[in-house]
Amino acid sequence: MTRYQYLADLLAQRIEQGLYQAGERLPSVRQLSCEHGVSISTVQQAYYLLEERQLIIPQPRSGYFVAPQKATPPVPAMTRPAQRPVEITQWDAVSQLLDLRQEKDTLLLGNGSPDLSQPTLKPLWKAISRIAQQQDEQMLGYDVLHGRPELREQIARLMIDSGCQLTTDEVLVTTGCHEALMIAIRAVCQPGDIVAVESPSFYGIMQTLRGFGIKVIEIPTDSSTGISLEALELAFEQWPVKAVMVVPNCNNPLGFIMPEERKRALLRLVQRFDAAIIEDDVYGELTFDYPRPITIKSLDHDGRVVLCSSFSKTLAPGLRLGWIVPGRYFDRAVHMKYMATGSTTTLTQLAVADFIRQGHYQPHLRRMRNFYQRNLKILTCLVRKHFPCDICVTRPQGSFMLWVELPETVDTHQLEQQMRKEKIQIAVGSLFSASGKYRNCLRLSYSLPCSEKTERALAFLGAEVERAMKMDYHNIEPLAITD
Ligand SMILES: Cc1ncc(COP(=O)(O)O)c(C=O)c1O
Repeated sequence: MTRYQYLADLLAQRIEQGLYQAGERLPSVRQLSCEHGVSISTVQQAYYLLEERQLIIPQPRSGYFVAPQKATPPVPAMTRPAQRPVEITQWDAVSQLLDLRQEKDTLLLGNGSPDLSQPTLKPLWKAISRIAQQQDEQMLGYDVLHGRPELREQIARLMIDSGCQLTTDEVLVTTGCHEALMIAIRAVCQPGDIVAVESPSFYGIMQTLRGFGIKVIEIPTDSSTGISLEALELAFEQWPVKAVMVVPNCNNPLGFIMPEERKRALLRLVQRFDAAIIEDDVYGELTFDYPRPITIKSLDHDGRVVLCSSFSKTLAPGLRLGWIVPGRYFDRAVHMKYMATGSTTTLTQLAVADFIRQGHYQPHLRRMRNFYQRNLKILTCLVRKHFPCDICVTRPQGSFMLWVELPETVDTHQLEQQMRKEKIQIAVGSLFSASGKYRNCLRLSYSLPCSEKTERALAFLGAEVERAMKMDYHNIEPLAITD
């Protein structure tokens, strides 16, 4: 990021936080240049950028003023899915989204990958090459089924922050969180079982359930507090629900952190109906506020919570390194791990264990939390600027996903076709529902800083949304005049 972009982001953040109010005069170019130790032209470029984003207005011979702001859109209301067991659909759409990830020149607005260009990842590259250069034959052999003890020890230590007191022996290393989820589902459920999920819910969870012939009940979910416990209780009373799968910390796609008392109440409810919880904590360390929130696993005294996580979002998905803490399902989980992949790649396990042991992990996390929080502020400003007023947006408390609810009449599948022609990928809302709901919603990613290209893409997307709304208006049949 250049100096002027950095300065522009900083000023945008201050405007967003209300430190500079609409109509207020901003500091002069000279003042800012002294304050930040940058040249006059850097400040001027930063101001031009903010002017382009319509956050500030120049007044000849008076300086720059904060532009009037559109109100921040409200948060989406509690979702209302059909609460009965359904077969999971949407695989073709998920597979298309994943294919687009590989297309060069496509701008990935709907991607779930973290930023991989940060300098705090350099020690990880060094660890990988140092270990590879040792040419130790162990690296090319099979690893132990449970994973390298060095890494399991580091994972158990990291989990102390989430309230979990674990021994190394309780942790199994997996090939990403995907494998952890797959092992968890197989260890807890049988084909034909029913599992309750948040609605909307990460499509990877649902497609894994589909692969094992499991039906889901989509439970209403609040974009600030998570799964509705009242609706879940009703589902337990009506159906033999075997497990509940949740992403309670920095939920994908809604971004909420479930409050601690609700985590406790969820566990009590699940205990009452003697079911299991599969908890996905893959974003738990990317909360904007520190210390990070606790996991439900940390409250679990009878081993019914299976915790799944990975380094895919905090470090890099290409490492394919995750873990599972299977509780009372440990023996079955070990068998499922053997069935799935047998063992995990040794080299990356040792490199990550070394990276954490040398103290590089926490500074990297600190940097990423600030980085994503800043990106979110800019993205929210841009959505406010380019999208029509009658939308709802979430207030993510961490990670890098924003959920946008458009008017009911807008079909994001049609928008997606338009965007694809422009080489822009978006994640349509129906991917996050077993039954294809949320066709009027989108998930936008802010893992990468907003470039000019991103802003152009958002402006195009916003204009398409507006067009779709007008088209629908014109499609309405004129009312028949009757006597
Ligand atoms: C909630 C959630 N769980 C699991 C995964 C998969 O993680 P991994 O790449 O470690 O398999 C993702 C990736 O997008 C995710 O968002």
